[in-house]
Amino acid sequence: MNFKDYYSKNEQRLLESLKEFLKFKTISTQEEYKPEIQKVLEWLNGYFSNLGFKTKQLLTKKPSRKEKANPVFFAEYIVDTDLPTIIIYGHYDVQPPGDLEKWHTDPFDPVIKDGKIFGRGTNDNKGQVFANMIAIEYYINHVKDKKYNIKFFIEGEEEIGGITTDEIIESREFDNELSSDFLWISDGPWISADKPSVVYALRGIAYYDLYLKVMDNDIHSGIYGNVVLNPANLAGTIIYKLKDIFRNRIRVPGIYKKVRKPSDYELELVEKTSPNWEQIQKEAGTTAITKYIRKGVEFSPLSLTGLKPSLDVHGIKTGFAEKDGLKTIIPSDALVKFSIRLVPYLTPEFIYDSLKKYLDKIIPKGVEWELKDLGSSKPFLMDPKDPSVDVLLNVMTQAFNKQAVLVPEGGSIGLVNTFAEIYGPKILMPNYGLPDDGLHSPNEKFNLSQLVGGAETLLGFLQN
Ligand code: BES
Ligand code: MN
Repeated sequence: MNFKDYYSKNEQRLLESLKEFLKFKTISTQEEYKPEIQKVLEWLNGYFSNLGFKTKQLLTKKPSRKEKANPVFFAEYIVDTDLPTIIIYGHYDVQPPGDLEKWHTDPFDPVIKDGKIFGRGTNDNKGQVFANMIAIEYYINHVKDKKYNIKFFIEGEEEIGGITTDEIIESREFDNELSSDFLWISDGPWISADKPSVVYALRGIAYYDLYLKVMDNDIHSGIYGNVVLNPANLAGTIIYKLKDIFRNRIRVPGIYKKVRKPSDYELELVEKTSPNWEQIQKEAGTTAITKYIRKGVEFSPLSLTGLKPSLDVHGIKTGFAEKDGLKTIIPSDALVKFSIRLVPYLTPEFIYDSLKKYLDKIIPKGVEWELKDLGSSKPFLMDPKDPSVDVLLNVMTQAFNKQAVLVPEGGSIGLVNTFAEIYGPKILMPNYGLPDDGLHSPNEKFNLSQLVGGAETLLGFLQN
């Protein structure tokens, strides 16, 4: 039976399973969801055992997140130890749903409508993992001449920087499990709706809390305004000193000197495949864009997300910020959450040191402040001319019947660099998502046609 027939025959059952997977509220950034993590691990264990996999949970002897640590779910299907092995990566943790009012359906009770499945994690990343699970179910039951051993590595801390996962890889306690020839990662969107995308570079990220404290209590701005430093004003000023949004430039000294110069080949690639500004405006739902022009040359959106570092504030907490009403205070303190996306050769260590020095210079005396490192991951870069890239582009082009393209990606997947450095498999990153899937947003979705095309991509590779 060919895959298409297999899928149509089994679609009902498969989609029910996908829904089960999506229903677990596996939000890694909030501790109260720990029981849901346990449940999804049991569910995965049952699912993969049924397929004939040997399963286990990976956790180092002494994880630094202790009882908070989320294990990696691991499963293997060894056909013959002489055959090459592919590890399929994914993450079972998800981002919090955010504002429930903005969701049209329950984020954790997935709904299928017009060929799309809606819910948290449908794209990022359970839906994409499930596409690979479907492919492997078919591979096991219907592909006679099997050329690969299959392993799955599904982590639970991707959305919080993957500390536990990094430890699992770095500990070398699991060499048997983690050795492989290929690492297959489908955890991102296409660059445009008509361009199946293979990824050759990921940005890293360094995430911080900056806490500023001026005094113990809020005080009257009529009495003390103009004479006592206002930490909310200071937060704003520091944010401007971190990044000038009008010139679109990070102002922490030294950063741009470290940034690698992409090759002409890459630049050409990026200019050719970049979405235009109209597409970005449509996807994001705004005309407020930040262009980047240097010496009269305007950079494309993809070169700004894929090849340049960026700095974003994610939230500010200070003073009186109710929806209604007013209150004339100078707040006692302020908290700024922000991150910097890293490209080679910006390291998290270099960023932290540079930030520390810079803040030390600009924050006035008398302000208590702390820069807290909330975690980081290194950027990843492979040779865009590696022969494996062509194989993958071909396979993907066939699976989706659209010409696949090679892209550097702006998002971060913490483990890729660590895994590549320690175990050295060939990295294969075909994305199955679409640009309008709404990762980390309300009404996240995944098109069922992408689910099928994703499965066919992996099958295409396995049969190559
Ligand atoms: N699937 C994304 C990574 C991604 C995002 C790839 C956008 C391509 C485009 C992943 O789940 C993710 O969101 N990673 C976080 C990591 C962070 C929380 C440490 C990210 O990039 O913000
Ligand atoms: Mn994500």
